[in-house]
Amino acid sequence: MISLPKHSSTLLEALDTRRSVPSRQLGEPGPDRDALLRMLTSAVRVPDHGKRVPFRFLRIEGDARHALGDILARRCREREPGASDSVIEKDRSRFSFAPVVVAVIANLGPDEKIPAQERLLCAGNVCFALLQAAQAMGYGAQWLTGWAAYDRMVLAQLGVGADEALVGFIHIGAAQIEAPERERPDPAMLLTDWTPP
Ligand SMILES: Cc1cc2nc3c(=O)[nH]c(=O)nc-3n(C[C@H](O)[C@H](O)[C@H](O)COP(=O)(O)O)c2cc1C
Repeated sequence: MISLPKHSSTLLEALDTRRSVPSRQLGEPGPDRDALLRMLTSAVRVPDHGKRVPFRFLRIEGDARHALGDILARRCREREPGASDSVIEKDRSRFSFAPVVVAVIANLGPDEKIPAQERLLCAGNVCFALLQAAQAMGYGAQWLTGWAAYDRMVLAQLGVGADEALVGFIHIGAAQIEAPERERPDPAMLLTDWTPP
């Protein structure tokens, strides 16, 4: 057993207990602007090759969530004219549970030095760090995408440009349940030693 200084073991405990709360189980109160900025202060502290800051955030809260749900419902009808009412209503409700949803957007435009993949990873790290920060501040959170994150019409309505990608919708709110733990991979099964050929 490795012995760790107290502050390290506390941090490890936080890392080891991180889990998502399904967005449907997130309710009021959500973080206000100051609380959200506090979380984002931790979330932006990610490794960033070339210091590009290849990400930005969109806050979707209050009535804006319902407006986005209506856009999804309309778009769902266009994409799947035969979609049942329940499918349409499911899409309409996607953003109506968590009080605050943060869309994390990556900048993947031309760059002479830093590959788009690295900038995408950087923005992905921000999503994960935001989940951790939300939990550390006592909120539940879940990282979701779904078809809407890749649909050009929805992205245009969100103001996401052609050179950008919507990496995740981070739903944040008060957990209404204690989220069940799920089985986690065993790292020992995933780790091998490289031996020179
Ligand atoms: C990029 C990305 C997109 C995801 N999109 C969805 C999604 O659209 N729907 C979903 O049910 N889970 C999605 N997930 C999974 C959840 O965020 C989450 O991992 C899952 O609820 C398990 O919880 P955990 O965070 O406790 O492991 C996504 C995860 C990632 C990394």
